[in-house]
Amino acid sequence: MTLTASDKAAIVAMWSKVSSSAEALGAEALERLFLSFPQTKTYFSHMDLTSGSADLRTQGGKILGAIGEASKQMDNLSGCLSNLSDLHAYNLRVDPGNFQLLSHSIQVVMAVHYPADFTPATQAAWDKFLAAVSTVLTSKYR
Ligand code: HEM
Repeated sequence: MTLTASDKAAIVAMWSKVSSSAEALGAEALERLFLSFPQTKTYFSHMDLTSGSADLRTQGGKILGAIGEASKQMDNLSGCLSNLSDLHAYNLRVDPGNFQLLSHSIQVVMAVHYPADFTPATQAAWDKFLAAVSTVLTSKYR
């Protein structure tokens, strides 16, 4: 699963739009995740998961912030995500299947907020990129 030059350009272009609203968009991605796939809430039982809560905004900002950092180091994903990989595998023990669900929710948020920019090609690029990020975050399970 290689990111082509045009994939990378599409990822960087979309991130430049998302980055200024990372907390709000990240919170929306989590809200969609928890409503559509309620089993994912079990990992966040210590948080206030009501719509627009401070917890959702903080956690959503952290997730998209990490993805934004990864978008700046697309050729070194395993290096730049190594600490997060340890955290999700050894401490949090998140079931790997949940990463696909979150990736899907993030794409829905982009499609809703930036419909003109979220072309099929841009979606395909983000799908590949989020799958690559997820692969790194679940790699330590093996
Ligand atoms: C693209 C995928 C993901 C990214 C980039 C990501 C990123 C992050 C980041 C940056 C943190 C904060 C780490 C810190 O505070 O040092 C975090 C924490 C956490 N993540 Fe993820 N994550 C992803 C997927 C998931 C999934 C799918 C789940 C479970 C459904 C999950 C559950 C958690 C939990 C429970 C925490 C700790 C929250 C807390 O108590 O503060 N993550 N994640």
